[in-house]
Amino acid sequence: MSLDLASERTAWARLLDRASEPYRSAGRFAWHFARGKLGYDPVFRHLLAAGLIPPSARVLDIGCGQGLLASLLRACGAMRAAGEWPQAWPAPPAGAQVTGIELMTRDIERARAALGEAGDVRFVCGDMRTEAFPACDAVVILDVLHYVTHEEQEAVLKRVRDALAPGGLLLLRVGDAGARRGFAISQWVDRAVTRLRGHTVPPVYGRTLPEWIAQLRQLGLQVEPRPMSQGTPFANVLLVAQRS
Ligand SMILES: C[S@@+](CC[C@H](N)C(=O)[O-])C[C@H]1O[C@@H](n2cnc3c(N)ncnc32)[C@H](O)[C@@H]1O
Repeated sequence: MSLDLASERTAWARLLDRASEPYRSAGRFAWHFARGKLGYDPVFRHLLAAGLIPPSARVLDIGCGQGLLASLLRACGAMRAAGEWPQAWPAPPAGAQVTGIELMTRDIERARAALGEAGDVRFVCGDMRTEAFPACDAVVILDVLHYVTHEEQEAVLKRVRDALAPGGLLLLRVGDAGARRGFAISQWVDRAVTRLRGHTVPPVYGRTLPEWIAQLRQLGLQVEPRPMSQGTPFANVLLVAQRS
């Protein structure tokens, strides 16, 4: 293994520790969930290793769950301060200001118990279909839009585009309904996790990858799809969409 790769692995393990540690004060479930999700879901590491969230960005995390992204971004600042940021990665998104919007009270309570509501994080318990979106440099929506109808997805995405600064990025992860097996597995796991987190299981509204891309292009966004289910049986794709 090269030195760069080894130091990157060590750095990621340190980041994982730092980002999940605050959840100890939110209970055992919250801590285990944080470690598992941040550790096994490739999207979190990719956001950092690909430099998709710039330093000091105003970030809107829609459907933020228990605030894992906010915790990860806060940990990036601590890594930089400790001189532990991997040299092979782009500049850390230190100094990010995160607003998380989440429908479920229980998740918002876990997020606040873990991260508080200091200047760099703010959690809003609300519905993305009606909650106002603040002006931002990056909007992150991971595995959320399929919970609302196609018309509602379009309305949310329009408001996201309007909230983004010119050049800002929408980082949207979706399942590709065209990849039948991977999509079916992700739906099954989604239902199981939703129940485990104490939520009622909502219906889902999927689209194929070309349909997602067409939807974003129709809103004037430039879109680049990146496969985002490495190491999992899912058919997830991260759509990196830029407002010109
Ligand atoms: C699969 S989880 C993903 C959580 C988080 N984005 C992550 O990747 O860790 C989907 C989240 O979206 C939230 N959600 C679903 N519908 C929503 C809505 N209409 N408004 C806000 N949040 C919603 C759910 O409560 C859940 O926490």
